[in-house]
Amino acid sequence: MDYRTLGQSGLRVSAIGLGCMGMSHAYGAPADRRDMTELLADAVDMGYTFFDTAESYGTVDNPHDNEELLGEALKPFRDKIAIATKFGITFENLAAPGVHAVVTDSRPEVIRRSVEGSLRRLQTDHIDLYYQHRTDPRVEPETVASVMAELIKEGKVLHWGLSEASVEYLRRAHSVCPVTAVQNRYSMMARWNEALFPVLQELGIGFIAFSPLANGLLSRCYTATDHFDVANDYRAYMPQFQEDSFGKNKALFSLLDELAERKHATPAQISLAWMLCKKPWIVPIPGTRKLCRLKENIGAADISLSAEEIKGIDEALDAMHMSDVFSGSLVKSRAI
Ligand SMILES: NC(=O)c1ccc[n+]([C@@H]2O[C@H](COP(=O)([O-])OP(=O)(O)OC[C@H]3O[C@@H](n4cnc5c(N)ncnc54)[C@H](OP(=O)(O)O)[C@@H]3O)[C@@H](O)[C@H]2O)c1
Repeated sequence: MDYRTLGQSGLRVSAIGLGCMGMSHAYGAPADRRDMTELLADAVDMGYTFFDTAESYGTVDNPHDNEELLGEALKPFRDKIAIATKFGITFENLAAPGVHAVVTDSRPEVIRRSVEGSLRRLQTDHIDLYYQHRTDPRVEPETVASVMAELIKEGKVLHWGLSEASVEYLRRAHSVCPVTAVQNRYSMMARWNEALFPVLQELGIGFIAFSPLANGLLSRCYTATDHFDVANDYRAYMPQFQEDSFGKNKALFSLLDELAERKHATPAQISLAWMLCKKPWIVPIPGTRKLCRLKENIGAADISLSAEEIKGIDEALDAMHMSDVFSGSLVKSRAI
């Protein structure tokens, strides 16, 4: 496994992290706790040192299921790994079917309560990377950054980050307390965040790519006949998994297949290698519940694509017709 260093504060993580959300949330009924505990231990064994969760990744019965799972499963390895978690949102009406809106709340007293809850559930005395999950229009970036500076001083948080913040917000927050990483959606189907790369380069901030496989579609393991549970699986509502999308994405699939054959790799590995080879400060965090995919995804770090090859892929993607891709839950402000 290859390792990367993020931000001026130097957070060192495996080049590929493990997104743990889908073990509890948004990808069907939660996975078996014992199986996931074993999977997380296997991930550490393979060289994964970067695990992504959030206080809001939960189930109808347990709104903090995912942090509790990680806390228990990763306890034996705590000093060898980095845990990233997030504050600042709750999902609205989790018991209802469909994609849930998120409600933002980053008032300082709420962040303080969140950090204590996360530390307890994660069974640790520090969070390696603490993200604001979504910005709160009612709280200034300077206020949030000041709370982060205090938490870092207290040793409860080692590094901090932002998810889906604007450039202006990022710059203002960073000027108060240096940001180590930004976590945004990024895949061959969702490239709008490339516009942020020059700013990240300038400020020395790492980029964590969430949903790097376009929620699994780029693996080529899904077909138009796959159906997902409308009660608890967001993929049932994602544009890229609708039947007509498979026709619209033919050119993308051909590109992935051709590259996979040429590089003796799988389409999922190509999708991850493409972003890994762009910048040394990009770290994708694919999610999986399966051991074979943990192994496959980590293998992407061994695939090399030249600058010329990346340019060719980007040009092909620019010119290509493809379906829409899921762009996230509706974000709402809390009631005052
Ligand atoms: N900051 C945010 O707002 C935010 C939002 C969304 C996600 N995230 C984070 O990002 C992580 C990753 O995103 P994501 O899980 O939504 O999307 P993703 O990583 O693009 O896709 C996950 C899906 O791909 C499948 N998969 C993974 N590797 C595969 C492979 N090699 N071959 C075939 N299928 C494969 C998984 O199925 P199997 O389980 O069957 O392998 C899973 O259903 C999340 O776990 C979460 O930690 C953050």
